[in-house]
Amino acid sequence: MIPVGVIGIGSYVPERILTNHELEQMVDTSDEWIKTRTGIAERRLADDGETTSDLAYEASKLALEDAGLDVKDIDLIIVATASPDMIFPSTSCILQQRLGLKNVPAFDVSAACAGFVFGLSVAYQYVASGEYKKVLFVGSDTLTHFVNWQDRNTCVLFGDGAGAVVLGKTEKGYGILSNVLASNGSGADLLKIPAGGSNITGTIESVEKGLHFIEMNGNEVFKFAVRAIPQASKQALKKAGLTVDDVDFFIPHQANSRIINTAASKLKIGPERIISNIEKYGNTSTASIPLALDEIWKEGRLKKGDILLLVGFGAGLTWGANIIRWNRRS
Ligand code: ACO
Repeated sequence: MIPVGVIGIGSYVPERILTNHELEQMVDTSDEWIKTRTGIAERRLADDGETTSDLAYEASKLALEDAGLDVKDIDLIIVATASPDMIFPSTSCILQQRLGLKNVPAFDVSAACAGFVFGLSVAYQYVASGEYKKVLFVGSDTLTHFVNWQDRNTCVLFGDGAGAVVLGKTEKGYGILSNVLASNGSGADLLKIPAGGSNITGTIESVEKGLHFIEMNGNEVFKFAVRAIPQASKQALKKAGLTVDDVDFFIPHQANSRIINTAASKLKIGPERIISNIEKYGNTSTASIPLALDEIWKEGRLKKGDILLLVGFGAGLTWGANIIRWNRRS
């Protein structure tokens, strides 16, 4: 197998900031409740008409620039998203057109908030096998377009963003060392957007009932997440021939700081190794892991050889982890 690493990374969030104090004016909540129960202080909001592909485009340009590549060097585009621009065409095809790329395949991966760990694994296979040389993989979501702003159980949690990576050949022993993916469809009802698909198409009645909004059983998702994160992490580390002690940075999906801290303590990972930016962005779904990764890369905190544990979970239920030995010097 060809060794595969992240050779470029970029991220983008919309300009508009929505603070907890603004949410206090919209629903029966408080800054204090949101901060203590979730760790979130503010989140970014896509404008009306600002789409998932718009955010993906901005992140992609930055990732290509970081890689020092021209868009024509890319031979496959994959987008992971839970909030596509449309049911079809895929968001990746819309992104391809925006990037001005012709004659390269483009498709989406759907694994809700675990989309980044799933999509990274998919993109990895293509480069590792030699089928494609340089893959642009983007996690992008605008879930705030699907939030019921009258439902305090969900509206305080989500934010918008995109993170893009370019995968390509790297040195032997570096890059993506292992991937672990898991799903359990028996939990499909715990987190969903009921309408807009073939189950319930958009009708006046479905809109009146708010079935086009996110519905979530928060307590059950919480319990699942704190079980799934340690499980996937340990499996991925074992597959890579590593242990928790080898991990330099733990970069989990940013859904709730209590989930992150509980899972980290189960893994015996101390705060100095936990990467969390949920305070600024909330849950940006498929974008949360690459946003956090890009942040520590740009801050110069990543050294070549660092072991990164990426772990995600989401609707489906879906969960998984990727182990990376960082292959770049800052
Ligand atoms: N402000 C004030 N009170 C609130 C709010 C709010 N925004 N939201 C809920 N409450 C109330 C509830 O109504 C409840 O009141 P009650 O006791 O009178 O009934 C009380 O607070 C406690 O509610 P819980 O649901 O028990 O609160 P909990 O501590 O579990 O926190 C939360 C809720 C934040 C949703 C948590 O369960 C969670 O983070 N779950 C995981 C969610 C998640 O990760 N989702 C994304 C998965 S990724 C994807 O694929 C999209």
